Amino acid sequence: MCGIFAYFGPQTNPLEIVIKGLKKLEYRGYDSWGVALKTNNDFLIHKEVGKIGDFSFSDLQKIFPISNSQLPIIKIAIGHSRWATHGGVTEYNAHPHWSKNKEVVLCHNGIFENYLKIKEKLIKKGYTFRSETDTEVLAHLVEEYMHESNFENAVKKALSEIEGRYAVILISKHEDKLIAARRGSPLIIGKNGHDGEYFIASDIPAFLEYTNKVQYLDDDEMVIIDVSGARFENMRTHEKVNKRIVEIEWKVEEAEKGEYPHFMIKEIMEQKNTLYRAINQSAEKIHEVAKAIKSARGTFFVGCGTAGKVCMTAEYLFSKIAKRHINVIFGSEFKFHQDFLTDKSLLISVSQSGETADSLEAIEVIKKLGGRVVSILNNEASTMARLSDIVLPNKAGPEKAVASTKATTAQLAICTLLAYAMVDKLDEGEKLLIKTASQINDMLNPRYEDHIYKLSEKIKSAENIYIIGRGLNYPMALESAIKLQEVSYIHAQGFAGGELKHGPIALISENTPCIALVANDESKSEILSNAMEVKSRGGYIIGISPENAEVFDYWIKVPDCGNCSPIVNIIPVQILAYQLAVMRENNPDMPRNLAKSVTVK
Ligand code: M6R
Repeated sequence: MCGIFAYFGPQTNPLEIVIKGLKKLEYRGYDSWGVALKTNNDFLIHKEVGKIGDFSFSDLQKIFPISNSQLPIIKIAIGHSRWATHGGVTEYNAHPHWSKNKEVVLCHNGIFENYLKIKEKLIKKGYTFRSETDTEVLAHLVEEYMHESNFENAVKKALSEIEGRYAVILISKHEDKLIAARRGSPLIIGKNGHDGEYFIASDIPAFLEYTNKVQYLDDDEMVIIDVSGARFENMRTHEKVNKRIVEIEWKVEEAEKGEYPHFMIKEIMEQKNTLYRAINQSAEKIHEVAKAIKSARGTFFVGCGTAGKVCMTAEYLFSKIAKRHINVIFGSEFKFHQDFLTDKSLLISVSQSGETADSLEAIEVIKKLGGRVVSILNNEASTMARLSDIVLPNKAGPEKAVASTKATTAQLAICTLLAYAMVDKLDEGEKLLIKTASQINDMLNPRYEDHIYKLSEKIKSAENIYIIGRGLNYPMALESAIKLQEVSYIHAQGFAGGELKHGPIALISENTPCIALVANDESKSEILSNAMEVKSRGGYIIGISPENAEVFDYWIKVPDCGNCSPIVNIIPVQILAYQLAVMRENNPDMPRNLAKSVTVK
């Protein structure tokens, strides 16, 4: 989704910092971008459609040469990468947007839900609109209120009229002030050791090279930054808020590609270690969550996309290991189930980013009813973390490729631990996971990648790929389809193996690739029969399995990890999806139309 970056401070190259910051936010997904710099009495604004790519500060200087004498002592610059919602992908619609007389310039993530009503009001007052966005209304509205008040008060008044979920940063022509506000979309303030230097961004890696000291803006909070420092306030009550400074422990390198060509393959390979980290949970907390599940009247695992498929796997794990039913609902569907919920309901939210709007909405629903929230999260500093009663951290480190890989297997590991803890067998679960982690470590070697590469070569021009699984591996068949779709752009669909004969088998024709996810468990003979049904109709069978089978045209070996088979079976599909993306000349880190964290509903 959109990315926001702002700089406030003494450095002489503010736009260079902003452009660099926007590049670090590229992984979020975007289709246009723009920057604005406050000069002594005006703004320099530049916007473009497409990716920032190699665009640099020197390119900008060719467009508008900037000399230091044009700039105030305190430099203020903002930038934005836009993922279109209201209005097409055009330069006009790209941010920053400015007000009628260019008094106010701003960037915005999220959606102003009542923008049409405000727009009508402003049109009647003589304002004209340059863009089709919802964003532009706020710029004009602030300027309108600046006729009767100063910038800060005008922003407060304008925001009190805006409905929706958003993060917004605003600057004014006449004041050395940066204002940011959030309701539903992330904004983090970075504070440098240097006196009076601040960064604001949608995500920490954007400014991590300058500072690891951050302050999180919570919902309904705003920050006003000027030469006297940063003041935090509640947007509704205007009461002062004291913000803790948190020191981030990530290393800059963790959020960089290093020797790898793409984040996606780096993050796939990191699974050699990330599983060990995920397993290293506080036993006390795991037992506390298990107890909460036992005493809840209904436990609902909630997630979206890949995280939703992890929730579905948890349903099988809980049934198989803990002999207990849990409910699974995708975040966007949760509110339609609220009639079944009470203050005794428990929501377990699974999310990499902790910022997914659909999952956050589910949390709002359960909180209103008085229910409890546990989160399985990679981003421990996210909105979701702050809304949860208990957080189980994934500890996978920053995941920047849009396609989730290492966070997924970490989430699966934590769900497995929980299922074992339900029947007081946490030790057994831990041992199994440690064995699995060490087998993944052995598996992820260059020979393994080469073996999958040969398969990628064979199927790179396929129009359709089908994936089948049963039991624990049925949700992973669905997840495999997501992985393949999002980065290779090949049509891929996952099915429960037994469902094929009820319709989808009609899709199979000569040489259609069909991946069978096989586990050495009670589902094995049946999934192999389902694979045979596909093969008999001309399908090309790719078996991901601990053992070879006659039905396989291509076999990818995975270790036999018992109840951890979903964890090991998904990894070769992640590699396959990555390789297909590269072969088809797609950018696996930033697939078209997608965003890393989906902060709109
Ligand atoms: O950050 P979250 O885990 O809440 O994100 C949920 C989905 O948007 C995410 O898993 C998405 O499906 C991934 N791009 C899939 O790889």
